[in-house]
Amino acid sequence: MQGKGKRPSPRGVAGHDGRTAIAIMAAGKGTRLKSKHPKVLHEVGGQPLLQHVVRAATQVVPVHDVYAIIGHEADRVRQSVAHSGIHFLLQPEQRGTGHALMVAREALQAYDQVVVLSGDAPLITPETISLLSEFHRSHQPAMTILTAVFEDPTGYGRVIRKTDGGDEVDAVVEEKSATAEQKKITEINSGFYAFSVRALYRYIDRLSTGNPHGEFYLTDMAAIFRQAKERVLALKARNPYEILGGNTRAELADIDQRMRLAKCQALMAQGVTIFHPQAAIIDPEVEVGPDTVVEPFVELLGNTRIGSDCRISSHCVVRNSIIGDGTLLRPGCVLEEARVSARATLGPYSHLRPGSEIGEGAHVGNFVETKKVRLGKGSKANHLTYLGDAEIGDGVNIGAGTITCNYDGIHKHTTVIEDGVFVGSDATLVAPVHLGKGAYVGAASCITEDVPAEALAIARGRQMVKEGWARQKRESQRDREKEGR
Ligand code: UD1
Ligand code: CA
Repeated sequence: MQGKGKRPSPRGVAGHDGRTAIAIMAAGKGTRLKSKHPKVLHEVGGQPLLQHVVRAATQVVPVHDVYAIIGHEADRVRQSVAHSGIHFLLQPEQRGTGHALMVAREALQAYDQVVVLSGDAPLITPETISLLSEFHRSHQPAMTILTAVFEDPTGYGRVIRKTDGGDEVDAVVEEKSATAEQKKITEINSGFYAFSVRALYRYIDRLSTGNPHGEFYLTDMAAIFRQAKERVLALKARNPYEILGGNTRAELADIDQRMRLAKCQALMAQGVTIFHPQAAIIDPEVEVGPDTVVEPFVELLGNTRIGSDCRISSHCVVRNSIIGDGTLLRPGCVLEEARVSARATLGPYSHLRPGSEIGEGAHVGNFVETKKVRLGKGSKANHLTYLGDAEIGDGVNIGAGTITCNYDGIHKHTTVIEDGVFVGSDATLVAPVHLGKGAYVGAASCITEDVPAEALAIARGRQMVKEGWARQKRESQRDREKEGR
């Protein structure tokens, strides 16, 4: 969604007229989600709702001027975005959006302007926040309300403008208190505002709980300011969808879909082919190089980085992994914290667990599981194999069904396989064990001792052949049947 790093609006403007804070309301429970988890921790686009809002806010003002108001499950909510470095204000009882700003009174005294955002509305962009803040600064009202026009405004607060056709607002009426006439108004309150801090705290105590929810509604500040002859302005958002909130599971799904599609579109604009963008799940931080092809039902998650000219086939799930240029992932691969060098081939159905490092041009085939393994350049483990805690050199062939026995029930041990080793099928390598350069291991061997370079190791029962045994068995069976035994 939002681009990284760049501040869309220089903070210098605020420097002229005083300081701007951003307050993010995130204390609510989210009753409509019917969830045991707090609303702002529900995820869209691969991240909690609140994290998206924090990211947008910290691109507009310095992180120490961002305050999240938390209450319901405060510890969990705090932990989810603590790494950002923002401040937290506690609203121990959630008595409404107006009350959320009451608890912020002391913290915000040092500022001239506060931009208020909703922790449950994650599509807001830094550009829009800046626009709201700058509009407010240049017009100097007590309150600026970001609004939008929705074909179906059901559920939102309606904006009652003054009848003179200007930008001034008389009141905001919540859905539950709106008359039939007011419900027809399609201009809605986004829940994003800019306030003059002085005006807000001069009048905030006039809020009351005389409404259907028995809460202090921040939206009532509009009418309170009007009574006090202070100006309240409306600013229409350029992209109404930025306002959407995740109040219900259906709304969360809708927002998620919009974010996923936007991410796919950004990647496609950078030269990535995505066959069925509606069916690709790509997290915001993921990077993909040009001419890489992403097939339907792929998930690219977390801090994944994929090179150029790769093909990621259907049903691959790649998390926090790095994949080099020209690599082919056949269908159904699962990668977690893995590194794959250029031109490797994986799958179908390879499982690369954390610490897997696959060398240039290497092959990892079907039903091969790797963990904490370095597989060298051009090496192959093509079928039905487990490789864990192993150092494997270049040009090594790991036969079908090979197992590194890395765990003795208490400790993990390492298997070292040097360059050019050939491990026959169904070998069992009991770690710690070392196979020297160019050595051979016979099929079905259980290797418990080191194998020197260039040697052959065979560790299995010697084959016995009993001539005529099968014929004799069949004949004696037939004889028994004749005698009726
Ligand atoms: C609010 C607005 C409504 C607007 C809509 C836009 C009010 C009364 N109504 O309604 O006009 O159209 O947003 O999305 O403000 N919160 C707290 N502390 C509380 C209560 C809520 O921090 O005591 C937080 C919530 O966690 C949430 C945000 O404030 O992040 C908004 O609250 P919510 O209950 O979702 O308000 P809406 O019903 O959506
Ligand atoms: Ca809401």
